[in-house]
Amino acid sequence: MTEQAENPFLYVVVCAAGIAADVSKLITAAQERNWQVGVIATPVAMNGFFDTAAVEAQTGRPIRSAWRTPGEPRPFPAPDAVIVAPATFNTLNKWAAGIADTLALGTLCEAAGLGVPVAVLPCVADALAAHPAYRDSLARLRAMGVRFAEPYAGEAGEGGGRPEFGWERALDLIEPA
Ligand SMILES: Cc1cc2nc3c(=O)[nH]c(=O)nc-3n(C[C@H](O)[C@H](O)[C@H](O)COP(=O)(O)O)c2cc1C
Repeated sequence: MTEQAENPFLYVVVCAAGIAADVSKLITAAQERNWQVGVIATPVAMNGFFDTAAVEAQTGRPIRSAWRTPGEPRPFPAPDAVIVAPATFNTLNKWAAGIADTLALGTLCEAAGLGVPVAVLPCVADALAAHPAYRDSLARLRAMGVRFAEPYAGEAGEGGGRPEFGWERALDLIEPA
């Protein structure tokens, strides 16, 4: 697809969950729906969770993970929407608590205040999701207007296969019906 300068800009925040290996599916789907995409990854996610070179080739932009220095220009335009996919237990709890010690978290903490749609595809095992802090975090983020897809635990079913993650759910959440 040839990107049009006027196409809206989507931030895709990628956390360190195994399913992140397939994040290119989300980028492809977003580009097909005429979004320009910039990827922001947590530092742990940059450490082997997905093919960073392939994602940079796909988006045509460097992945952002570290803070820029004060003199550097902002590498991405302001977002028209933000997707967190996959979203980990760790990042969701820190985001809800207002912790901004990585670029990904700082971006998320700011996102709801920008008034743009923010959608989350959680990927959290059932045992972790039972933690009371996690339930509180989801309630707090929902109250901020963050839109959540159905829980996904990533655990294998009876046949041994994992269910589809359904990356396009995130795009459905940020777009008007
Ligand atoms: C192979 C692997 C897969 C993981 N998958 C998940 C996952 O699906 N969900 C999750 O919440 N944490 C998962 N983790 C744990 C996170 O990587 C860990 O909590 C990390 O601190 C998250 O960092 P981040 O939230 O900054 O990306 C996984 C770890 C490994 C090594």
